[in-house]
Amino acid sequence: MAVMTEFERWLDEGFVRLNTVFEEAYFAAGQEHVPGLGQEELLHEGAKRLPGFDGDPYRLLGSVGMYLAACARHQVEDEEVLAPAWALATRLGTSLGVAPRYVFAHQSLHGFRTFTSLPDEQVFVRQNGVAVVAYERAAHALRLVATMGVGGPVVEGLLREARRALEEVLAANRTLADTVHPRRFYLGIRPYFRPHRVGSQVYRGVNAGDFAAVNEIDLLLGLCRADDPFYQRVVAEKMPFVPPDHQDRLKRAVVAEPLLPQVLEEPRHAGLFLEVCRAHGAAYALHHGRLVKPFLEAQAGDEQDVTASGPPLSVVVAELGHLVDLRTGRARAGAFGAHEELRRLAELV
Ligand code: HEM
Repeated sequence: MAVMTEFERWLDEGFVRLNTVFEEAYFAAGQEHVPGLGQEELLHEGAKRLPGFDGDPYRLLGSVGMYLAACARHQVEDEEVLAPAWALATRLGTSLGVAPRYVFAHQSLHGFRTFTSLPDEQVFVRQNGVAVVAYERAAHALRLVATMGVGGPVVEGLLREARRALEEVLAANRTLADTVHPRRFYLGIRPYFRPHRVGSQVYRGVNAGDFAAVNEIDLLLGLCRADDPFYQRVVAEKMPFVPPDHQDRLKRAVVAEPLLPQVLEEPRHAGLFLEVCRAHGAAYALHHGRLVKPFLEAQAGDEQDVTASGPPLSVVVAELGHLVDLRTGRARAGAFGAHEELRRLAELV
């Protein structure tokens, strides 16, 4: 691993200490923010140590981006002080072809870093990371099935691996739901994931879905379709927020042949394939019922401006509900869905 810069060492120490102090004060007050606690210290301490354009650019974007996200979260976005950090993030984002902000991939696939040392955030980032890596394994197995053909002699092991990985996503989401305190999440974790400015533009906030794997699984299984306008929007919107290599994977996924029609033609592993589809649906239904609803909807009350991506909460929850229907194969009037093909598949088993 590369030698840590002074900025990165500060992110691991002083930055975490300051965020933790502020979060404890906010939580004690039962508020998302309390002004006048000396939050400017975080702004100035980071600005003093801002690194140059050096080292791994994606990692550097994550470091600068976490600093910017924290300044926004504590409402100390001083234009003059932040101008060099905004310029650095913008230059990095342009060179990489991604949004100039930190995303969850920086925290999970490119090193483990948290904003605070509070236990709820530690569990949140760790279990999110476990789920992300499990989705990666499922996507990898299904990509291999797509290359080999659904009737191939080693496909059974790959489908078992995909099913197991998706069951791990479900288990990680369940652990998160059982362990993280919903109010701690709402007041002290979610605000770091909100949209914020970089220079003259506001970039949307981030979530654990900003990776290629979940969409590769959707499209390879055939539960979602790359010519469905609703799903096209989901994939296109996410493109600047995934790492550069995931952008390539998304580009390949939208032209890949879905497996479901192939399994209907060659049903040797139909039972196992159906179990993979059901495991994907179950994990995502749990995301909706046990994470989105209790951690966000129930906490927000009448407040609508609380989402990571920006649209009102009711709009985001409705879109996520549409994704639940697609992934669980539930029929939806006037919209694409694989329910009919899944029914035929179940008859073959
Ligand atoms: C407390 C925990 C979590 C909550 C409250 C939560 C909530 C949400 C919300 C509200 C969105 C939409 C973001 C927006 O547009 O504003 C979202 C997106 C997403 N989340 Fe989570 N999430 C949590 C954890 C996870 C975990 C552990 C995973 C698994 C890796 C995950 C996977 C996804 C995916 C894939 C999306 C993108 C939309 C999609 O393709 O379905 N989330 N989440």
